[in-house]
Amino acid sequence: MTNSPTIEELSHEDRIFPPPEEFAAQANAKADEYDKAAADRLGYWAEQAKRITWDTPFDTVLDWSDKPTAQWFVGGKLNAAYNCVDRHVENGLGDRVAYYFEGESGDTRTITYADLLREVSKAANALTELGVKTGDRVAIYMPMIPETVFAMLACARLGAPHTVIFGGFSSSAIADRVKDCGVEFVITADGGYRKGKPSGLKSVVDEAMEDCPEVRNVLVVRRTGQDIDWNDDRDLWWHDVVDRQSETHTPEAFDSEHPLYIMYSSGTTGKPKGILHTTGGYLVGTSFTHWAVFDIKPETDVYWTAADIGWVTGHSYIVYGPLANGATSVLYEGTPDTPHRGRWWEIVEKYKVSILYCAPTAIRQFMKWGRDIPAKFDLNSLRLLGSVGEPINPEAWMWYREHIGGNRCPVVDTWWQTENGSILISPLPGVTATKPGSAMRPLPGIVADVFDDEGNSVEPGNGGYLVVKEPWPSMLRTLWGDEERFQKTYWSQYPEVYFAGDGAKIDRDGDFWVLGRVDDVLNVSGHRMSTAEIESALVAHPKVAEAAVVGAQDEMTGQAIEAFVILRESAADGGDDVVAELRNHVRSAIGPIATPRSIMLVPDLPKTRSGKIMRRLLKDVAEKREVGDVTTLADSSVMDLIQKGVSES
Ligand code: WT7
Repeated sequence: MTNSPTIEELSHEDRIFPPPEEFAAQANAKADEYDKAAADRLGYWAEQAKRITWDTPFDTVLDWSDKPTAQWFVGGKLNAAYNCVDRHVENGLGDRVAYYFEGESGDTRTITYADLLREVSKAANALTELGVKTGDRVAIYMPMIPETVFAMLACARLGAPHTVIFGGFSSSAIADRVKDCGVEFVITADGGYRKGKPSGLKSVVDEAMEDCPEVRNVLVVRRTGQDIDWNDDRDLWWHDVVDRQSETHTPEAFDSEHPLYIMYSSGTTGKPKGILHTTGGYLVGTSFTHWAVFDIKPETDVYWTAADIGWVTGHSYIVYGPLANGATSVLYEGTPDTPHRGRWWEIVEKYKVSILYCAPTAIRQFMKWGRDIPAKFDLNSLRLLGSVGEPINPEAWMWYREHIGGNRCPVVDTWWQTENGSILISPLPGVTATKPGSAMRPLPGIVADVFDDEGNSVEPGNGGYLVVKEPWPSMLRTLWGDEERFQKTYWSQYPEVYFAGDGAKIDRDGDFWVLGRVDDVLNVSGHRMSTAEIESALVAHPKVAEAAVVGAQDEMTGQAIEAFVILRESAADGGDDVVAELRNHVRSAIGPIATPRSIMLVPDLPKTRSGKIMRRLLKDVAEKREVGDVTTLADSSVMDLIQKGVSES
């Protein structure tokens, strides 16, 4: 087990890094934030809400009467795009750079706040012309280019919630989301650059649209210039429609609880959950955390979240948080090793990036490539490093601190989820002495704990379930179209307490250690997938009779997907071809990130007498451990057969 620290490892972790004095002296968040928030939590959040410009001030900070759906900043009205763009220009900051865009192939664009205002206004006018109205859902399937941000903010400006679909997802994933969300308007690009080649996006949308007759228009940005199919009745070029629009647009103020976006994320069933975020609370949460955790100084910092906008990390810390704070960000289209393995460090050097936020899986990849690569670049501009997406093993944390941060930058390990909207547990970089591998403390205003099965706080050092005991502004409000699942997933374990689905422990100093999911949700390179989602893709293949999927420890990706498959009798001669065929099948059904690391063809699966697959035993096999207790299996010889098969293959 190299990735998530074991309880034993944790209790021996005695390296502590206090914030450098110089950093602490200039830090945004001081130690008294905790006391202020503890003394008057809602008053503290009302204070944070001043970061936002309200068209109509709110009268109630929190209305929690309709539990578990919270309403924040009730009575307030605002426009999210106005807060991210217009007000900075009105404040004379139009010339400040909002984004340094760096294409994978080296093309660049510098976009100021004044540029952003023009582009977002034009896009909003175009969407209006094309019939997009307040409340309509718009799907966005794009590469990492500035138009993705323009499109999101144009939607926000009109109060049309966007649902951004990660550009690595398959056509059926698009179709599922479009249908679940009732989308009638899609924005995409011909393609994007990935690993040195143009990848197709429009072609994937075309395939999805065969299943989505309700979609009236597909608006297409030209990025790569590759050949694409065209449907004259449906498809429109972005440059044809957007370029000729007026550069001004008057934003309308919406209710604080007006839906801002829906982001689909995997749960424990095959069907992704449409996590709904609303406007006021989400903007307060993202701008506050971007200020407190990343210590942003918008006048001088160059901030870089090296994640995809298609995930919540990109929504909150490439788009809404940094823009609400008037920050300058880097937007990078490509992968870390194209055209060479020093690409990220070249970008840090070029733009003098001062704050970098990325995932442990990337850090482990860089570790593997070796310290010599970052050492070739000038990384002295960096002053703060962040990590997100999965538990960071102390070894990777130390490497990041030393070889990227030059032992001078505080490292903040930030715990949160798509559902949370913004960071909930993290050190404050100028305040908290950090321990490698720990996300440390709930932020001021956040009340988190670790519970046992009965809902009691566990004793220090014992493991339990991570919970949040009070609502917070950027929390999800519901699951789109499925209030019942919302209540069941997050609020049924403990009354009026948010159940995160993560295992955690609190050490003797009161610091949190997040240990990973306790349900059937996998975390591969910081991306969430459910075992059920991959299993249902597998059983949809004509050669598969039954399938079980587990997440096994993987040095690089945190977890890796291991599938156990029973073939139908007609396909039972098996062989490598079937395995390759099934791997490709999952890849095209869900997307490359869901490709199993291995698929084992097995004669049977371990099941309880009630027919439930015991994934725990398969996990033992996948992680090459001695198989645990088999006494509750309906047929205990099954495990012998599986193991025999594994050792022969
Ligand atoms: C799950 C949420 C929030 C953006 C990225 C992922 C895991 C996330 C950490 C961390 C340990 C972490 C949890 C969580 N996770 N950050 N710092 N330490 N685990 O968002 O796809 O909604 O996944 O990621 O297991 O439940 P997501």
